[in-house]
Amino acid sequence: MLQDTPIVPSILGATPLVAIAEAMPNREPLGEVRLKPGREKTLKLGHPWIFSQGIESFTGKNGHLVEVFSSKGESLGIGYVNTHSEIRLRMLGFMEKKAEGLVYRLIAHSLKKRRALKIESNAFRLINGENDGLSGLIVDAYGDVLVVQFGTLGMDLLQKEVVEALTILFQPSAIYEKSTSISRRQEALFPKSGWLTAHQPKEPIEIYEKDVRFLVDVVEGQKTGFFLDQREMRFWIRDKVVGKTVLNLCSYSGGFSLHALKAGAKKVVSVDISEEACRQMEINTGLNGLKGHKIVESDVFEYLKNSEELFDLVILDPPAFIKSKKDLPKGSKAYRELNRLALKKVEPNGLFMTSSCSYHMSPSLFETILLEATLLEKKQTQLIQRHILASDHMKNIAYREGEYLKTMVLLCSTQP
Ligand SMILES: C[S@@+](CC[C@H](N)C(=O)[O-])C[C@H]1O[C@@H](n2cnc3c(N)ncnc32)[C@H](O)[C@@H]1O
Repeated sequence: MLQDTPIVPSILGATPLVAIAEAMPNREPLGEVRLKPGREKTLKLGHPWIFSQGIESFTGKNGHLVEVFSSKGESLGIGYVNTHSEIRLRMLGFMEKKAEGLVYRLIAHSLKKRRALKIESNAFRLINGENDGLSGLIVDAYGDVLVVQFGTLGMDLLQKEVVEALTILFQPSAIYEKSTSISRRQEALFPKSGWLTAHQPKEPIEIYEKDVRFLVDVVEGQKTGFFLDQREMRFWIRDKVVGKTVLNLCSYSGGFSLHALKAGAKKVVSVDISEEACRQMEINTGLNGLKGHKIVESDVFEYLKNSEELFDLVILDPPAFIKSKKDLPKGSKAYRELNRLALKKVEPNGLFMTSSCSYHMSPSLFETILLEATLLEKKQTQLIQRHILASDHMKNIAYREGEYLKTMVLLCSTQP
């Protein structure tokens, strides 16, 4: 039955942009924020946050839109304030001067940017918060179903406008809210989730990436249902695995594994601790009619300690071990040990792809940890690829806080 599920094309397709921005109703008068001297510099570079110490004065309602001024009275754009948050002010857009239709214009701009990418999938990040000038808002598209995450008080208050704009621009069949990130606590907000549309799909949503199909459960799945940020590395491995063996550690619903098998890998072993992820892998493997996939439900440390088998490509994409700065020493130790154990499983002259999605681990620390792991294992390695985020995540260079994912690929060579 699954094989007959129709694949919904990408919503990036033909939907015309509708020029309704000017027709949006006028808002109540904006509040005002004045910054302390010099605090406008980072805003002008494109970083959208001002902390509490940077604010000279604020008039208006908490969470509602405000016009932002430098200490000299220069208008810097539109933002919103949360007096309960250390991040006191967040800008919308980049030096946008007009509040009317702003949310709609920014969402339409996000769509135009994604269209320019020619993504080989109907699942992608449509809006990536601060990186798209929409601080506090994430929107992922799975076929014609959208998953939205409101992360701040200001965005919660803009929910109606956001949903209206998404509906006009994309005509989605359904919109699911998954505002469950722990960052809402810093905004003094409770988590919330549920369907925002009358239509509430009961079945998982079918997506494609190139010629591979996946079923995605946006309600029960991890993140918004799929790890969209690794799409381009899933594509990257494809021409490296033809006729090879692959070990996919922390494999979730089988993203890397199925691309490898579809591209012609001889054998793939996938390891994940989650029973649900393993069930999804079984379903997705069947959906694509693929053979040669061994799925192991296990803790990755346990698997690595108890298995002897070597592979031509080992992929390691664990969850974030470092959730806050205080976890750095313990988390770094876990990354070192896990990478050391995984390196042991790489065939001579094989490849090792390793990722960290811990924001608090800098790229240079991750590199150091990897170097330590290779030295401990007496492996000779060369860095042959680096990756941050799939291009639809639209990294805002000025916004360092958006850099959480780091991926490196090492060639593990034999001694000359
Ligand atoms: C970042 S996701 C992997 C995403 C995957 N690479 C993809 O492209 O879809 C991390 C995965 O690690 C799994 N995981 C968490 N702790 C684990 C552990 N101790 N052992 C094995 N898997 C674990 C989670 O269930 C999750 O599926």
